[in-house]
Amino acid sequence: MLVERLTQQLGKPTQGLWGWLVTRFLKKKNKLLEVNAVKLCDIQPENVVLEVGFGPGLGLQEAARCLTHPRGKLYGLDYSDYMYNVASRRLQADIQTGKVTLFLGSVEHIPLEDNVVDRVFHCNCYYFWPDLRAGSKEIYRVMKPGGLMVTTLNLEALKKIVAAGLLKHTQWPPEPYMAVLHDTGFVDVRLEDKQDKGISFQAIFATANKP
Ligand SMILES: C[S@@+](CC[C@H](N)C(=O)[O-])C[C@H]1O[C@@H](n2cnc3c(N)ncnc32)[C@H](O)[C@@H]1O
Repeated sequence: MLVERLTQQLGKPTQGLWGWLVTRFLKKKNKLLEVNAVKLCDIQPENVVLEVGFGPGLGLQEAARCLTHPRGKLYGLDYSDYMYNVASRRLQADIQTGKVTLFLGSVEHIPLEDNVVDRVFHCNCYYFWPDLRAGSKEIYRVMKPGGLMVTTLNLEALKKIVAAGLLKHTQWPPEPYMAVLHDTGFVDVRLEDKQDKGISFQAIFATANKP
């Protein structure tokens, strides 16, 4: 019961005590993954960037700092009302200038045109997508040819929480996700081991191969 509730909240945090606790946990535990996803994306000042499943918005904040050119633009998409509100408060100043736009919605329906995004990143998110194939296809659709997507995760931590009974019925193992990315049309799909501040984690890279 408790682990099911926690899994539910990790997948879609809601307003209230549970959502508040999960948000505190995400801010503490996942900041390193969010910051490194942004670093590994090698965001250029004039890029158009999208984060899927931004949660409390720490990665968005980091990515916004990289977009120093007036053409630089950051989009975020998350289907939790609560996370949308928390991140909107965090990014308020950049939202007001139009540099950042946040959408409330699911990855299978990204409200962007085809071929507009240079970089996509997401952390601890694909596990919860209702349909990996539909999500990957939609991300691929909005990416420019040659655009880069980076996904960061901590496999050791994931295995521990799975052993504790969490993330049941989710698709957390990276291999099936990477296979779907490959089928969708991404190339150079690879998983690399990384380290920051003495903490090991993994990064999945995928490049949108398009004519
Ligand atoms: C475990 S949290 C991770 C949040 C943040 N990326 C981090 O690492 O701290 C997963 C986030 O992905 C969002 N999410 C899950 N499935 C989603 C989907 N299908 N479309 C959009 N957002 C989704 C959830 O609402 C939640 O904010």
